[in-house]
Amino acid sequence: MTRGLRRRLTSYGDQDFSLFLRKAFIKAMGYTDDALDRPIVGVANTYSDYNPCHGNVPQLIEAAKRGVMLAGGMPMVFPTISIHESFASPTSMFLRNLMAMETEEMVRAQPMDSVILIGGCDKTIPAQVMAAASSEVPAIVLPTGPMDTGNHRGERLGACTDCRRVWAQYRAEQIDGDEVSEINGKLASSVGTCTVMGTASTMATLMEAMGLTLPMAGSAAATSAERMRLAEETGRAAVAMTETGLTTAEVLTPAALRNGLVTLQALGGSTNAVVHLAAIYGRLGKKLDMAEFDAIGQKVPVLVDLKPSGSGYMGEFHAAGGVPRLLSELTDLLDLSAPRAFGGTLADTVGTQSQRYEDQIIRSRSRPISSSGAIAVLSGNLAPRGAVIKHSAADPQLLTHEGRAIVFDSVKDMTERLDDPSLEITAEDVLVLRNAGPRGAPGMPEAGYIPIPRHLARQGVKDMVRLSDARMSGTAFGTIVLHITPESADGGPLAAVRTGDRIRLDVPGRKLELLVSANELAARMADLPPPPPVPERGYAWLYDQHVTQADDGLDFDFLMAKPHE
Ligand code: FES
Ligand code: MG
Repeated sequence: MTRGLRRRLTSYGDQDFSLFLRKAFIKAMGYTDDALDRPIVGVANTYSDYNPCHGNVPQLIEAAKRGVMLAGGMPMVFPTISIHESFASPTSMFLRNLMAMETEEMVRAQPMDSVILIGGCDKTIPAQVMAAASSEVPAIVLPTGPMDTGNHRGERLGACTDCRRVWAQYRAEQIDGDEVSEINGKLASSVGTCTVMGTASTMATLMEAMGLTLPMAGSAAATSAERMRLAEETGRAAVAMTETGLTTAEVLTPAALRNGLVTLQALGGSTNAVVHLAAIYGRLGKKLDMAEFDAIGQKVPVLVDLKPSGSGYMGEFHAAGGVPRLLSELTDLLDLSAPRAFGGTLADTVGTQSQRYEDQIIRSRSRPISSSGAIAVLSGNLAPRGAVIKHSAADPQLLTHEGRAIVFDSVKDMTERLDDPSLEITAEDVLVLRNAGPRGAPGMPEAGYIPIPRHLARQGVKDMVRLSDARMSGTAFGTIVLHITPESADGGPLAAVRTGDRIRLDVPGRKLELLVSANELAARMADLPPPPPVPERGYAWLYDQHVTQADDGLDFDFLMAKPHE
């Protein structure tokens, strides 16, 4: 394959002239021929003033460039979209595929022999790995790393499980407006990603377990010297990958993908990872088998005691040995022969761990946080193609529950009526939210964490059964059924539920049932209101026409690879 600046020449009909032009222009940046006659490592820059989770990207770029140059390569930094959870409207998920498309095409369009993908906030690593899986350029992921924790009156705080807990206390009038404002300045105490086992940490650590980051790169703190050294080492690795590198599709073998599923269950990781992994599978022409994922969950214990399932923060996970230490507890359940993007196998990652003492944060198999995994897959007449629940973060007493449905037709409807005292809700009721799925909202917002109605919160109610076609933040907790598929706006039976219906949740039996007869359900389905109008133009139109359901990861149908298994 042609390498360096000769790679992917724009054709003016004369390849030598194309190279001549390319060199003439790039020399305007001050490069010499010697600098240009080397393997080129692209570095995706996702810095943005709107993205504090990527606030350390400029320093990471400097360190990665240093590593590339020390190893004899030429780094070329290029910008891509940057998406932050709180600054992307209508949802960051709505924009993930746009980022994946943009990253894929920029990696393909510009000359680079390997690429370093720097990212961290929830949708970034998924978008980048989806792009890489569709690209032939060897790629290595460099996560930005988790933020530091803060402290309020002696209590540690970290975004964003504590954001939710504190806000719930404020809603329940346990803390006042002054204190909640004071805490606001302490929740995200440095740049970097949310410091619990939310989606960002889950995806970064999964990529480490799947061979796409250097060992420990999934968890080192954003502000640490170790993070910068990992960036430098990533730069060096990326140069070696220009010679020997596997493509991401070659790294993500069936063994690597399955290792990802095992690790997700053991981490107590985010439900959002199920959606992102399904999208990555789709880029490889495969379908994430939800039954297999559930079966893995029945064998794999949760070993990591981090919020929201447990009590710690990412700093402790890293100190306890991070992913290599976790994987060393799971060797019988993993395939350690899975390759890594930068050479060697997962066995080499496990071999880097030196921690052998008993630890509270990464437990040994004899002392799990819970003996079965974090996430269960449900099905039934309400979720014909599945739904998920993070049962490790739920009230165990509610995992088998039957109650009266209270239905909200949209996120707006829920926001307007949830706290209305005239709406009679008891703690035994089942809160149902619909039209919050991939097409319905659009963008499948993280609205599945339906707040406890204010009057019940004041009475001390902390958890209720809640269900929706939405997602939930990986930093949230509760007895919450998510990703009901198909969604209500795409012909799912969730659209037919009425307030007053009975709903049965049976997590041990993996069932979610609406207790009405098949005939009644069919009659209701035939009598649904018309779907909302299709957006008229632009990305919203493209999204609406091509987004897939949660079981295909919300990727666009035209971006998925043709099945080849
Ligand atoms: Fe970016 Fe949580 S908001 S990782
Ligand atoms: Mg999140």
